[in-house]
Amino acid sequence: MTTHSLFATRVYAAPLQRQPWQVFNERLRQECLQLQADDAAGRAWSGSNYPGGYTSYGSASRMQQRSPTFAKLEQLLQRHVRRFAGELQFDLQDRPLAMTDCWVNIMPKGVTHSLHLHPLSTLSGTYYVQTPKGVPGLKFEDPRLERFMAAPPRVADADIANRPWVVMPAVAGSLLLFESWLRHEVVANPVARERISISFNFSWF
Ligand code: NI
Repeated sequence: MTTHSLFATRVYAAPLQRQPWQVFNERLRQECLQLQADDAAGRAWSGSNYPGGYTSYGSASRMQQRSPTFAKLEQLLQRHVRRFAGELQFDLQDRPLAMTDCWVNIMPKGVTHSLHLHPLSTLSGTYYVQTPKGVPGLKFEDPRLERFMAAPPRVADADIANRPWVVMPAVAGSLLLFESWLRHEVVANPVARERISISFNFSWF
């Protein structure tokens, strides 16, 4: 007897760098905070679209083209994107998976980013810059959820492959990658210190 697992939903998690990461991470952190201080348009956009927090999604969404530090981040992410695309067995047919967007998120206590996906992109992900102790991770939702007709709940300690929602830890210096159609949510930050992350999209051209 064999029970097969079909139609896998993959989420990739890894440290960004093999070598010590703190110096580069601190440079990113300083630039995130400086951007927030300088970016009046982004603060205004966040006031309407990201209540209580700051994101450069509406104002400076291609940071890899504005800052050498973010360009370095793009370069460091390439290895991970290639590996994840390999695990997904994408046949890229000599067309590149290229970074299209890269933006900053700063979430003080209580700020949340509700369920969403990243339309028009192939792969999306987040690099974690500052994750205070007690900050929740990134919550993913089973993409088949609306088809769960008469499905019983899962046992409390179900394997992550069988759960309808899974929270992947947010770890400073590490990243998560997923296919852009996968719905996810940033759970509210319950602690006093800000959570800082950099999100990005890669598209297939
Ligand atoms: Ni997102």
